[in-house]
Amino acid sequence: MTIKEVQDEILRLKKEKDICILAHSYQAREIIEIADYTGDSYALSKIAAKAPNKTVIMCGVRFMAETCKILSPEKTVILSSPTAGCPMAEQMDKEFILDLKKKHPGYTVVAYVNTTAALKTVCDVCVTSSSALEIVSKIESKDIIFVPDINLGTYVKENLPEKNVLLLQGGCPVHAAVTAEEAAEARRLHPDAELLVHPECIPAVAKQADYIGSTSGIMDYAVRSDRKEFIIGTENSIAEHLQYMCPEKRFYPLSKGFICKDMKATTLMDVLDCCKGTGGEEIILDEETIRDARKCIDAMISLGG
Ligand code: 13P
Ligand code: SF4
Repeated sequence: MTIKEVQDEILRLKKEKDICILAHSYQAREIIEIADYTGDSYALSKIAAKAPNKTVIMCGVRFMAETCKILSPEKTVILSSPTAGCPMAEQMDKEFILDLKKKHPGYTVVAYVNTTAALKTVCDVCVTSSSALEIVSKIESKDIIFVPDINLGTYVKENLPEKNVLLLQGGCPVHAAVTAEEAAEARRLHPDAELLVHPECIPAVAKQADYIGSTSGIMDYAVRSDRKEFIIGTENSIAEHLQYMCPEKRFYPLSKGFICKDMKATTLMDVLDCCKGTGGEEIILDEETIRDARKCIDAMISLGG
């Protein structure tokens, strides 16, 4: 089958079976093309909750499919590739957080959405990379424990000096691998380009940026800007998608190695198998996990996230 034939078959099956396909912006172009919605992690879950379809296929990583299930427990949620995890989401477990809470009574535990459902059950408020500053600024308590990403946490701490933010050693190995030297070299090679960086990057990279923001923030900034050249400081698929969206502009990846293999685990054939009912993994969460993890997400929504 050609790519086009596989895509056509997916489109036919999803209509026949009332399936909604969600694709994170880091997915490959041929998957983005057949998705009903594309966006960053939390935007996708919110869309999933509103979608009328009974079945949702999440082309992304496990925590995204779990967030989708927490917000839409009545739906069948399928993770397109069962091997697609997120190393950052799996860095801390419930017992570690419960122990932290004991050691730091009175602190509000803020969890990045890139965490497992189990971890969210023992955290107080969830944030996304696009909402972190707004949400943390609105939390009543001055004392905050931010998990798991030390880089996003540092960005929050530096921008909200009125808060006492306790950080721990965690983060995205893909974003954190990019060095300050690579950023400086990219700037040297493309002197007319603006550097747009995700806050999961280390502070020494973020400090060199013209703009720091989430996946959607970076894409919106580049699309709206009058400038013509951009160095993209997040997963390389974003530079590629932006190049298709704005052919008159130029987008340079900040680093050749800026690739998340978990996000790239899903193939178009995986999506076809999910539509046929022969592939993927249905996300099953018990009622208690859904109820407790939802409190963490609802706390973010009530603060405006
Ligand atoms: P956002 O899509 O929320 O910006 O997160 C980036 C990321 O690393 C997703 O796994
Ligand atoms: Fe996880 Fe980083 Fe990959 Fe996102 S890019 S899924 S945070 S490892």
